Amino acid sequence: MARVRAGGQDAGVKQETRGIPLSSPYVGEREEELVLEVLRSGRLSLGPTIDRFEEHFAEATGAPYAAAVSSGTAGLHLLCISAGIGPGDEVITSPYSFAASANCFIYEGAVPVFADIDPRTLNLDPAAVEAAVTERTKAIVAVDIYGYPCELDELRAIAAKHRLAFIQDSCEALGAEYKGALVGSHGPSAVFAFYPNKQITTGEGGIVTTHSEEEWRLLRSLRNQGRGDDGGWLEHVRLGFNYRLDDISAALGIAQLEKLDEILRLRREVAGRYGEILRDVDGVELPLADDADHVRSWFVYVVKHFESEGIGFNRYLPSIHLQPYIRERYGFSEGMCPVSEDASSRTLALPFYTALERDAQERVGEALAASL
Ligand SMILES: Cc1ncc(COP(=O)(O)O)c(C=O)c1O
Repeated sequence: MARVRAGGQDAGVKQETRGIPLSSPYVGEREEELVLEVLRSGRLSLGPTIDRFEEHFAEATGAPYAAAVSSGTAGLHLLCISAGIGPGDEVITSPYSFAASANCFIYEGAVPVFADIDPRTLNLDPAAVEAAVTERTKAIVAVDIYGYPCELDELRAIAAKHRLAFIQDSCEALGAEYKGALVGSHGPSAVFAFYPNKQITTGEGGIVTTHSEEEWRLLRSLRNQGRGDDGGWLEHVRLGFNYRLDDISAALGIAQLEKLDEILRLRREVAGRYGEILRDVDGVELPLADDADHVRSWFVYVVKHFESEGIGFNRYLPSIHLQPYIRERYGFSEGMCPVSEDASSRTLALPFYTALERDAQERVGEALAASL
């Protein structure tokens, strides 16, 4: 069987360090074994492997229920439907994120309201969220950007005060901890994603964790063309989607979950080495360190630089409110979220993956120092 080839999974960041991909999945023989088992079983979709993956995932995050879906974006979209978000509603979210955290409710006709971020954490600033609430606000979509948990208690309190739905985009944060407990375990429904640049991968895929059995049943119906629990294959009780994860992907996910602790540890070590290597590079600000309330799960290694001339890397991440299609549709422009825009202009992602070795990291450090 062909080995899964390591390779870059992200477009858009110019590689000054040839031969070092920006990201690379951490897969091996156990993944091959479990995938092969499913192939040989003949149960390639809607089979028992999905249920097993969901059970393992729920256990790994401390959430009572998990519903696997075809992508993180699909999971976010389904939570927006579950929250009843519809045309004309406003949804407050972070501008400093991947486009899907806003697209998920734009699909349903809701209007994005971008509240600015905290310059330290790069996550939603609760004061900016409170200031953005109007009579039309329906929900908050909070993101744990770069695996650093958002200000969950403060944001949930705002949501409760104004009777808003609260959705946590934890696509980058599997294994992160907030106030001593795993992201996913606190109560709000959360979405995790498994594209190959993530901590664990299923190829494409995602999962929603929820603390509500009722919501879990709804998610399972919505992802499966709106079929009911007891009805037949051709009975559709609601408008649904084909957002199913297949059993082959789920098998890959189970093998990845078996080594989750190892993956998280290795990624922490890679991040620690970057910290040592880049400590003395002038003009570079390292990622925010953990504190008592926030333990990051390392997704990417993003640094801030102080000079914008001559940098050989592209922006990571651009602010969503300035994406061409969003500007055009809503008329947003520069100056709307100055903290996010400043972060976008000065953050860049370095090659980062579970098996990244020190000598490659040193070459990255040299390339970065030379470009500044
Ligand atoms: C913050 C965030 N939200 C949503 C997504 C969407 O996940 P997916 O690519 O699986 O649809 C991602 C991952 O790319 C992400 O990083």
